[in-house]
Amino acid sequence: MAEASNTTVTLQVHRFTPRPERAERARGGSPFAKKGSPFGGGSDSAARRRPRGKQWVQEYTIPARPSDTVLDCLLTIKRTVDPTLAFRYSCGHGMCGSDAVAINGTPTLLCTATIRDWAKQPGAMPEVDDEGFRHTGTEAEESDDSAENVANAAADQNSAANGSLGVIELASLPGFPPQRDLIADIDPMLNQIRKLTPYLQADGVLATTAEGKVDVFEYLQNPEQLAKYELLSNCIACGVCEGACPVYAGGDAFIGPAALIWASRFVNDSRDTKAMERMDAIDTADGVAACQSVRACSRHCPRGIDVGEEMWQIVAKVRER
Ligand code: SF4
Ligand code: FES
Repeated sequence: MAEASNTTVTLQVHRFTPRPERAERARGGSPFAKKGSPFGGGSDSAARRRPRGKQWVQEYTIPARPSDTVLDCLLTIKRTVDPTLAFRYSCGHGMCGSDAVAINGTPTLLCTATIRDWAKQPGAMPEVDDEGFRHTGTEAEESDDSAENVANAAADQNSAANGSLGVIELASLPGFPPQRDLIADIDPMLNQIRKLTPYLQADGVLATTAEGKVDVFEYLQNPEQLAKYELLSNCIACGVCEGACPVYAGGDAFIGPAALIWASRFVNDSRDTKAMERMDAIDTADGVAACQSVRACSRHCPRGIDVGEEMWQIVAKVRER
């Protein structure tokens, strides 16, 4: 942040410090925890991913402007308040996909989320009951003069008076095991994408010149062919769609929307010769069959991909082949 600000923002960060791994017990133990058991024991099992360690919520109030991003605020905290706070980022411009987290419960990128868009006044935050559930409002409460709107207007006025821009709640990306603080382990997603061979498999026939030399050649494509997959090729594997998907939740029962977007990207590429094999690979119980068309995956894709619609298209293609 370049210049001093006379407004502040409060970040409520769900922190996590993993417990050091203990050496495996030499004997005994449950047969259900053994490797090869359908109930667990594999390297990617849900049991292994269950977070074990210290969890707590920490509040930081720092100077900030409405145009600052949440990433700017975390960097300020890291440099001036608490160097132990862990989060991941790289490009800072929505290009690398390394900083996906849950902001106010919604999966999105730290570097593109501004304080203006995400800070809420404490009075305006959805209330949770003793068991942590948020209750939906009634129609009466949604009217302009509802108690909620009056409370929000009062909270806004209070904010203007005390210089607070509001509160933002941060947690690691849902659906993935937390590694530390805001860093989630996204290897399950990357492994699912890798399994579907996310690279061009063309026929590999090299043209030769009249003299028998290998010709330098291009895979030609017209604009219509390019348009079929160009948007899909912008996927940065950030995991935002997976974090929003209620079926993905760790990837045991569903390979996830990101892997299907990568499969679809090559199925729709006229240069690729393995479309049938690619569709066979996703025509499985944990592939296209597991998608329930909830379409939560479409809401916050930072690359503007309508993930739910693309999933629908690839499901139709797989069924028609
Ligand atoms: S489809 Fe969008 S939200 Fe999903 S991983 Fe790719 S860029 Fe991220
Ligand atoms: S830091 Fe690269 S996308 Fe946010």
